[in-house]
Amino acid sequence: MNHMNFSMKVFRIFLNIIERILEHTPGNGNIRTTRYRIESRFLPPDFDGFRFVVLADIHAHRFDEGQEMLLSKIRRLEPELILSVGDFIREEYEGADRKLLRELSQKLLAEWPFYSILGNHEGRADTKEDFIEDFSKAGVRLLQDETVYLTRENGEVKEALLKENESPDPSRMLALTGLYPSYENGFYGSLRDSGYGPVLKAEYEQVMKAVPEDMLQIVLSHRPELFELYQELKMDLVFCGHAHGGLMKLPGGRRLLAPDQGLLPKLTHGPYHKNITTMIVSEGLGGPRIGIFPELILVEMKKRG
Ligand SMILES: [Fe+2]
Repeated sequence: MNHMNFSMKVFRIFLNIIERILEHTPGNGNIRTTRYRIESRFLPPDFDGFRFVVLADIHAHRFDEGQEMLLSKIRRLEPELILSVGDFIREEYEGADRKLLRELSQKLLAEWPFYSILGNHEGRADTKEDFIEDFSKAGVRLLQDETVYLTRENGEVKEALLKENESPDPSRMLALTGLYPSYENGFYGSLRDSGYGPVLKAEYEQVMKAVPEDMLQIVLSHRPELFELYQELKMDLVFCGHAHGGLMKLPGGRRLLAPDQGLLPKLTHGPYHKNITTMIVSEGLGGPRIGIFPELILVEMKKRG
């Protein structure tokens, strides 16, 4: 092991210890729900009333035996679909964490269609391929720079199977895009300092090109600090995690700290609107936090006349 690898491993172990301590601060067992009603004139009529839940940053957090608290909360929200914006794991996908996450994914899939992206924690893990294999085999649809088209008939959401040369139909389909930056593989740190900006823009541009302009598009992308890029690429509705609500609330409403945004981060929770883009950042379910309750997001889509 070279010196760099060794330092990285020590750093990861240190982070893991801090995360485990901060995960057990008061309030962290109480899951709350934030509800969003999103209206759009581009919504196909079939999708009027469409409800889905967004999960973020579980980080292998165990709420209770069998994750029943989390599952029963989700059930009460009556979603038709589950979306996740990444960071299921802490630092690696192995041992008790692997068992917990594998069981959780199976339980979710038994009740709902389940689409997800990878976060930076999966991206840099040595066990990333095990995670992808387990989740894909279980039936989780992992979107990596990929778009699927959804239809909804009689309240049942399905993935449209397009024939070769068949274009997706904006009058009855929604686009669901999952972004996973190629730079995320083994990458540690901030995009701002990485020089990857143009590479990422070109990569995402390529993904966005496939989606018809007049089709409503839901985008899953782990990192909220890329809000400007999402605007530049004219994304409609983006869901992110990663910030854990900014670790803790400060007097006056600001948040303390978020990965890749530093001190007093601006993009940590709730909706952010600019130009045509709405970005909703989840405070997430696990990981380090002080007094910021785990959050589930419920979205209801409404057709605007
Ligand atoms: Fe993250």
